[in-house]
Amino acid sequence: MIRQFFGWQSTPFTKEIPTSQLYPSASFQECVARLNYMAKTRSFGLVTGEIGAGKSTAIRALRDGLDLTKYRFMYLCDSSLKPRDFYRELLHQFGITPQFLRSEAKRQFESAVWDFYEGQQKIAVVVIDEAHLLQGDMLQEIRFLTNFQIDSVSPLSLIMVGQPELRATLQMRLFKPITQRMNIRYHLGGLELDETRKYVEHQLQVAGARHPVFTTEAIDAVYAHTRGIAREVNNVCTACLLDAVVRKEKLIDAIHVARILTEYKEH
Ligand SMILES: Nc1ncnc2c1ncn2[C@@H]1O[C@H](COP(=O)(O)OP(=O)(O)O)[C@@H](O)[C@H]1O
Ligand SMILES: [Mg+2]
Repeated sequence: MIRQFFGWQSTPFTKEIPTSQLYPSASFQECVARLNYMAKTRSFGLVTGEIGAGKSTAIRALRDGLDLTKYRFMYLCDSSLKPRDFYRELLHQFGITPQFLRSEAKRQFESAVWDFYEGQQKIAVVVIDEAHLLQGDMLQEIRFLTNFQIDSVSPLSLIMVGQPELRATLQMRLFKPITQRMNIRYHLGGLELDETRKYVEHQLQVAGARHPVFTTEAIDAVYAHTRGIAREVNNVCTACLLDAVVRKEKLIDAIHVARILTEYKEH
């Protein structure tokens, strides 16, 4: 509806945006750079950020940028993951059929990672997304992965990603061994005001827009409400675009944004 009405090639503000066309805000680029560094140095890392700040998107950018002749990217994003399924899932992603017993699957995974590193000189990059939702027994299991080294050489990179409370969880005594080894951390915050303006323009350009749609005041109102959190900016902008379609007008001003935001609050 939006695409047809505005005559664009694609719909802006959706999660389908290709990684080659993401908006390169300073903090987003820094996040992706650190993720790459964690992979390259086979480090353990932690990335936190509010819901919708762009964490999973940064992970996608990492994945798409990895040289597949050197890395194997493994992604887990299942809050109800049980220790037993953890190794099964990782082995599947390695292309190995897991043994039935958990202890065996664990050993299989360990030897696969070592063989990958020593035999093939490749690095397994294990990313655990939404890690703030994991239960204690899963975190214990992840603790095991951090012991996965010989003479301080780690064969893999382990990256935990989650909402800010993950940091506090990992501070607990039980998980200190994990945090102690997590030498690279990054907190992805929201966009700044000027970045939010550029972000909105960027999204429209990627969709194929040739004219601005939001006035500066309109974007400022979006920023005030969303604090530059990408997913929220996307939601508000989409609601405004749909409203513009209904109004049959191709310009969105602060007054329209204000009305949309009031409707938001009422529901
Ligand atoms: N740099 C960016 N450029 C374009 N879109 C982005 C960018 N960062 C985040 N987004 C968009 O914002 C939304 C939320 O991002 P997501 O990575 O799912 O957040 P999180 O994982 O932190 O909850 C997604 O639709 C995503 O496409
Ligand atoms: Mg996410």
